[in-house]
Amino acid sequence: MSKQYWNKFYQGLNTDQGIPYEPWLDSLILPQLLSLNEQSSALDIGCGLGLDSACLSNLGFKVLSSDISESALQQAKDLGHAKDVLLADAESLPRVLADKDFDFILANLSLHYMPHEALQKTLLGLVRLLKTPGQFVARFNHRSDINFGADKADERGYFRRMEEGEETLKVFYTEEVLRDICIGVAGELEVLCPKRHYSFEIAEADCQNFGRPKRLLTLTWSCLPT
Ligand SMILES: C[S@@+](CC[C@H](N)C(=O)[O-])C[C@H]1O[C@@H](n2cnc3c(N)ncnc32)[C@H](O)[C@@H]1O
Repeated sequence: MSKQYWNKFYQGLNTDQGIPYEPWLDSLILPQLLSLNEQSSALDIGCGLGLDSACLSNLGFKVLSSDISESALQQAKDLGHAKDVLLADAESLPRVLADKDFDFILANLSLHYMPHEALQKTLLGLVRLLKTPGQFVARFNHRSDINFGADKADERGYFRRMEEGEETLKVFYTEEVLRDICIGVAGELEVLCPKRHYSFEIAEADCQNFGRPKRLLTLTWSCLPT
């Protein structure tokens, strides 16, 4: 979905009543990342209103909050959830942040707006921004997430629709499809970074989103010392 779609979405969002937040991150983060002497660095991709950025900041991370929408970043700053912000498309981050590395990288429900091939390329670039030890966590729409459009998706899980005269894409994943993409990433990492030890896991999970049950897949990549 485009920058224009998300700017319009955040401009129309009323946050006066507060925004509900279900804590979910704390239990997933590798303990060794929380006990580093110097301040650990985190990147929140597609941060939206910055609720996860605020959670990471409370856990002691120095957080860079990034989004494709300037309206999202403005709201995240106004709400006090984000301090350092970066306006960028997730696909460009491996290039834009090539001289940086991070202890923790998060992409919560923000990488499923691109085709499978673009996701594989983006994941490869993002996982390479991890330090050792380092961890990447991303959540994706599940193929059975019918409350959010999965029933309208085609056989690849692609849900295309017209928004403001522009075609937008939202992708719903089965565990098998996401695993195949990650196996592709793992193969490329073995060639590009043979001295680093990367592994990934995928788990199904449920959460509440805008007051409705949502089914999702949690993908975790770790880069650990050999
Ligand atoms: C469903 S919201 C999730 C927001 C936040 N991560 C959360 O969980 O509350 C998706 C977010 O991803 C952002 N986004 C969509 N496509 C993006 C892209 N290609 N690059 C960066 N951010 C993107 C949107 O602007 C939006 O803030």
